[in-house]
Amino acid sequence: MSIFSNEELRNYVEEAKKVAKNGQVATYIPELGKANPLDLAIAIHYPDGNFVSAGEINKKFTLQSISKVISLALVLMDRGYDYVFERVGMEPTGDPFNSIAKLETMKPAKPLNPMINAGALVVTSMIKGSSTEERLGRLLNFIKLLANNDTVDYSETVAKSEYDTAFLNRALCYFLKQHNIITEDTETLMELYTKQCAIEMTCLDLAKIGLVFAMDGVDPIKHKQILPRDVARICKTFMVTCGMYNASGEFAIKVGIPAKSGVAGGIMGSLPGKCGIGIFGPALDDKGNSIAGMKLLHLLSKNYKLSIF
Ligand code: DON
Repeated sequence: MSIFSNEELRNYVEEAKKVAKNGQVATYIPELGKANPLDLAIAIHYPDGNFVSAGEINKKFTLQSISKVISLALVLMDRGYDYVFERVGMEPTGDPFNSIAKLETMKPAKPLNPMINAGALVVTSMIKGSSTEERLGRLLNFIKLLANNDTVDYSETVAKSEYDTAFLNRALCYFLKQHNIITEDTETLMELYTKQCAIEMTCLDLAKIGLVFAMDGVDPIKHKQILPRDVARICKTFMVTCGMYNASGEFAIKVGIPAKSGVAGGIMGSLPGKCGIGIFGPALDDKGNSIAGMKLLHLLSKNYKLSIF
């Protein structure tokens, strides 16, 4: 089953690339500022093992916020539904990803959802293990399984670059610790979180991970259930309601594909039952989503009627 050919995809990439000049690479994590804003790559992975791709497909990029979907899946498996959702909510915020504003208005002070930074920090703090190495190793092993790629690792340079400059995330940690939503040492959590965000891969690896979520937790190539169907369902729902932050509503209307973005320019898409999508385009719009990646998904969804709605 193939929805697009490589050539069609190449044409759409060329078209979408035109808007990259209107965006900017993230610089608040200094290392991300080194990316080429004009890059754009896409891979689409089908359940039969075939894939199509176009653009700078060999470039690796860090997952950043895309990792939040995967850490959520892991902690739901580790801790169960009740434990997780006692500590993090299920509602979209309509606020930027790093906003602290709503935390103070919530009683108890638990973050509204696992996709904003405050919620993701709580999720990361729930990853089981007796040391940072063990916890990161468990997350990495899970990602290797999802991507079917044993070589996936994190970028020490990007992790350090974020760790050295993550003052706002530290503020979120301290607020959450004050309210007993997290209990561990804040620097230990920041180390694990920044390494999680710095896990890097190509858009084909990302498409393969998106495919497993699209297929209800099953790796269709290995015919193996990697995560429970219900966990995949919860993650995809968060991708729809909160995956593109305060652009999630517009994205649901214009594109209609469960998707999650990251500030390095990645977008993971999961089209239920059909395919996984991995995109890399580091120039971002004002909400922190890949500007050319969003354009590309919009073009594909419109022309091939991909919306799930
Ligand atoms: O915590 C941060 O700010 C980054 N490591 C991740 C943020 C992010 O990717 C937001 N996505 N668009």
